[in-house]
Amino acid sequence: MAEAEASPGEPAARSPRGDAAPTGAVRDTSILFIGDVVGSLGRRTLTDCLPMLRERHAPTFVVVNGENAAGGLGITPKIAEQMFAGGVDAITLGNHAYRRREIFAYLEGDRPIVRPANYLRSQPGRGVCVVEADGVRLGVVNLSGNVYMRAGRSAFTEIEVALGELGGAEHVLVDMHAEATSEKVAMGWHLDGRVTAVVGTHTHVPSADARVLPGGTAYITDVGMTGPRGGVIGVKREQAVEALLTQMPVRFETSEEDPWLMGVLITCSGPRRARAIEQLLMPRPPAAGQDR
Ligand SMILES: [Fe+2]
Ligand SMILES: [Fe+2]
Repeated sequence: MAEAEASPGEPAARSPRGDAAPTGAVRDTSILFIGDVVGSLGRRTLTDCLPMLRERHAPTFVVVNGENAAGGLGITPKIAEQMFAGGVDAITLGNHAYRRREIFAYLEGDRPIVRPANYLRSQPGRGVCVVEADGVRLGVVNLSGNVYMRAGRSAFTEIEVALGELGGAEHVLVDMHAEATSEKVAMGWHLDGRVTAVVGTHTHVPSADARVLPGGTAYITDVGMTGPRGGVIGVKREQAVEALLTQMPVRFETSEEDPWLMGVLITCSGPRRARAIEQLLMPRPPAAGQDR
């Protein structure tokens, strides 16, 4: 396992939904956020890595961006249910939210899956959900950037509406799904001191700027993806290069090479504040490489 920072070395208490009794010490609330899961290989990587991450970090909550989970584009109800059954507490999405028609009605149901809150109100689903574990409530907000992205309303105004829908949630995680680094950095500053964490997604490339801002909000510009690092942001590299080289349409397929899980672990302090954010960059365990 390769990590950008050393493990905090906390005692080995397990997840509230895990497999061991608490040690007696009250653990800090923590949130494991995992970047865009790409295709079936990304889903298998998530399945293979999550037990190790639970063992090591005992996160209170696990939140996953699932916008690329179905063949690289979108998500289906079946895949979402598989993620929830595997211990994921909430799923965020992004510009590929509506690639699969069967997800439309599912997004209107009561499952903790959110599409960008600043999409049009007429579009299926909602942008905010609240999940609970260990008696702690986590509000999860999904936003879309407006620079080079199609979102009907401004992320910077709609976040105020979204925060107003969270009630008394002790912690808030905002997934800012955006192309432009500047827009994500600005959202981090805009929300500093008001939410527990602002995590960027969409580019599929992890950035090296994870930190807790002065007001107590954990921030990273992009978490990266969970999927094939051997491709071009998830696509077979030969196809991506061919498209750029020839300037002609090329059918893209999901790469199957060099799968990694990319995420961050946010350790909370007081209400809606973070003490630490640790970047987690983890290759799929070799022993799990025999695909099922
Ligand atoms: Fe993505
Ligand atoms: Fe995206």
